[in-house]
Amino acid sequence: MPLPSDLARITAHTRLFGVMGDPVTHSLSPLMHNAAFAQMGIDGVYVAFPVTDPADAVAGVRALNISGCSVTIPHKIAVMELLDELEPSARQIGAVNTIVNDNGRLIGFNSDSPGAMAALLEKTPVTGKHAAVIGAGGAARAVAYGIRQHGGRLTIVNRSRDKGRRLADEMGGTFIGPKEFTALGVDILVNTTSVGMTPEADRMPVTGDCLRQGMTVMDIVYNPLETLLLRTAREAGCQVVDGVAMFVHQGAIQFERWTGLRPPVQLMRETVVDALRAASVNQ
Ligand code: ATR
Repeated sequence: MPLPSDLARITAHTRLFGVMGDPVTHSLSPLMHNAAFAQMGIDGVYVAFPVTDPADAVAGVRALNISGCSVTIPHKIAVMELLDELEPSARQIGAVNTIVNDNGRLIGFNSDSPGAMAALLEKTPVTGKHAAVIGAGGAARAVAYGIRQHGGRLTIVNRSRDKGRRLADEMGGTFIGPKEFTALGVDILVNTTSVGMTPEADRMPVTGDCLRQGMTVMDIVYNPLETLLLRTAREAGCQVVDGVAMFVHQGAIQFERWTGLRPPVQLMRETVVDALRAASVNQ
């Protein structure tokens, strides 16, 4: 019996890519990257690897000569010491979300930071702007680093004051607690916390009076696609950047690093948005 055409294209030359994480079965990265491979005629396949032991997984990447890997929660920090080389930005951010296999040398890279900036830059310049980042976890580190790299002024807003203050000091920004934060003078506001994510979609990380016309508001939460924060911001006359934009751009930057080709960003976005819409209909 002939193979279905999508399987017939897999040969002994096909390069293997994947994402390692735990949990990883809900990841949209396989759909997004395989759509990009197909569109660009890349002989590659991207799969999801549920990984509990990152050391074993990285040894597997070497042993099987896997061409590239995304790294997601909770392994973005643990993989750092397992690689042959770290790009300076990944070291400064303190997290790796991309492994590039360069002829057997495993190089760690962070595409979350340039991905977040690419998403923001579609709507606003960052240089000389005042950006407030809500949160102080891994995603906040990537966004804060990108803002400083682009010459933005940075304020960190976080529930845990010590953690927020530490991140602000490290990245050359200032810290303010959520209760004192009014967003006065803020041009760009980025939520990096999980506040507003389904099933708590009726919550938002700042009060509505922080959102004023002329601001650009970005949320890294993409479930729901339009969070309460983004809806309130849109209704207040702000520019909005949804979480899919950052997810797609970080993936597009990975694609470019792995293949050397310009990524089909629009197709990647449509693939992810279609999948999210289908998932919300099925819920
Ligand atoms: P990630 O690596 O995805 O950024 P993380 O390291 O767990 O995730 O960081 C999550 C961030 O969101 C933290 O800054 C956290 O605040 P604390 O430092 O006070 O823990 C913030 N966060 C998560 N849930 C929150 C909530 N319900 N209200 C306010 N902040 C929240």
